[in-house]
Order: sequence, then C-alpha cells, then structure tokens
Amino acid sequence: MTEAVQAVPSRTAAVRLAGVSKMFGTGGAALLALDKVSLDVAPGEFVCLLGASGCGKSTLLNLVADLEAPSAGTIDLGGARVALMFQEPALFPWLNVTANLELALKMRGVPRGRRRARAAELLDSVHLGDFAGKRPHQLSGGMRQRVALARALALTVDETGGGRPTVLLMDEPFGALDAMTRDLLHDEIERIWRERGLTVLFVTHNVREAVRLGDRVVLLSSRPGRVVQEFPVPMERPRRIDSPEVATLAASITDRLREEVGRHGA
Ligand SMILES: Nc1ncnc2c1ncn2[C@@H]1O[C@H](COP(=O)(O)OP(=O)(O)O)[C@@H](O)[C@H]1O
Ligand SMILES: [Mg+2]
Repeated sequence: MTEAVQAVPSRTAAVRLAGVSKMFGTGGAALLALDKVSLDVAPGEFVCLLGASGCGKSTLLNLVADLEAPSAGTIDLGGARVALMFQEPALFPWLNVTANLELALKMRGVPRGRRRARAAELLDSVHLGDFAGKRPHQLSGGMRQRVALARALALTVDETGGGRPTVLLMDEPFGALDAMTRDLLHDEIERIWRERGLTVLFVTHNVREAVRLGDRVVLLSSRPGRVVQEFPVPMERPRRIDSPEVATLAASITDRLREEVGRHGA
C-alpha cells in the first residue's frame, strides 16, 4: 500500500523545469541559449535568477510563461496561473490608470459591472488609489511600474473564487528606476508577495537586489545558460539592500559570477 502511494509522483513544486534547453535558429547559425536547466520553485517561494546579460534569463521566463516552447525538456506549472512584469511598464498611453487595469480585467473575463471595483482594489494594493484618473505620462517611473504590477496582478484575478495559485514572473522590473524608488518597490513587492501568497520568479543582473529579495538566488552561467550554483538567503525579512549581511553574501555571489563571466571571456 505504502509502495503504491510512493510510486505516484508528488507535486511539491509550483514551477518545475526538468532538463530544459532552448536553441534559437538552426545549422551553423544555431545558438544554444539554455542548456538542460532543471529548477524547482516551491509554492510561495521567492526565487531570484541571476546572471550576466545575454545568459538566457528572459528566455527562461518566456518559456515558463509559455510564450516560447522549449527545444528539449519539460516545464510544469501544475495548473498555476502566470502573471508577467517587465522592465518597461508597457501601459496604453491614451488610457488612464483605471482604464489600463480595466482592460486587463476584461481580458481576464471579468464582467463589465465588476471591473471598476476590482481596478480600485488593485490600485489600493499598490498604494496608487489617488492616481486612478491619471494617464501614464503624468506618473513617475516608479508609479508606472506600480501600475504595471497592478496590471500583472489583474491577470490573476479569479472571479470564480477557485483560488488557483499564481506564479509571478518578473523580468528586471526595477532595472530602469533610481535607487530610492527601487528600494521602495522592493518593500512593496515583498509585502504583496506575502499578502497574496505568490510564487515569484524574479530575474535580475543586480546581485544585491537578488539577495535583498530572494529566499534563494539561482546563478546562471552564460552561453549556454546553465544553473551554476544556488545560494539560500537565510537573513530575516525585511532586509536592507545596504546592510552588511546583504553585502557579504552579495560579494561572494559576485565572485562566483565573475568566475563564470571570466570563463567565457565576456
Ligand atoms: N528570439 C530569439 N532569436 C534568436 N536569438 C535569441 C532570441 N531571444 C534571445 N536570443 C539570444 O539568446 C541569448 C539569451 O538571451 P536573453 O534570454 O534575452 O538573455 P538575458 O535576458 O539573460 O539578457 C542571447 O544570446 C540572445 O541574443
Ligand atoms: Mg533579459
């Protein structure tokens, strides 16, 4: 009896990549962007993917988001819903903040009559309730990224109350912001991650940012992208990006990253 139970593969990961490779192009022009990447992300875990520019971080997120198909290997999300956020907020400039969110809710199939209230809730959750009527150009860069975050969360709204788990994929979302705004958004994303029980896969090339946010930092090598090493981050939250503990771990990860970059002469 026990044996039969054990024979059934258990699903403990929210995201499971097994032997995932991605090749772009064919023949002599072929480029192996990712090589046999295996990675499990636990439900509710905050994992930061760190690597040099061009090492395949965005490719990996695109595969998890099902925007591209892997050349080999499997990706299993176990029915979780995926939300995406990029460096560029990509809001519609002619729509105000509320209308941008309502459009996302419409695409999620939220009935017209409920969209306004849902949009207001989402804006409150990113502390932008007072800016509902503004258009994107009237907002600061940090505020625009808050709207982009609210829109990503809009795609996870479940009107049926089924409560499907959500995997939030973030591709260098704060890379274009000044340091102070970025620090504030680190606090915000940490709060929202906790409140909503999200599973987060966060891509960055900023080592300190990865250590500030992650439960675990996964270091990727370049050309092709492979998992080189994983670093658990044991410090209590909330952490300060400029704390000595963050700096110490970031320094040792940076050494490892340099070694990798050096190996490839990049
Ligand atoms: N659609 C594509 N076609 C061809 N090559 C691509 C494509 N997307 C990415 N690449 C290449 O794959 C590698 C990894 O790119 P990317 O995932 O964007 O890296 P990162 O996000 O880590 O900077 C790079 O060499 C890039 O030029
Ligand atoms: Mg990228």
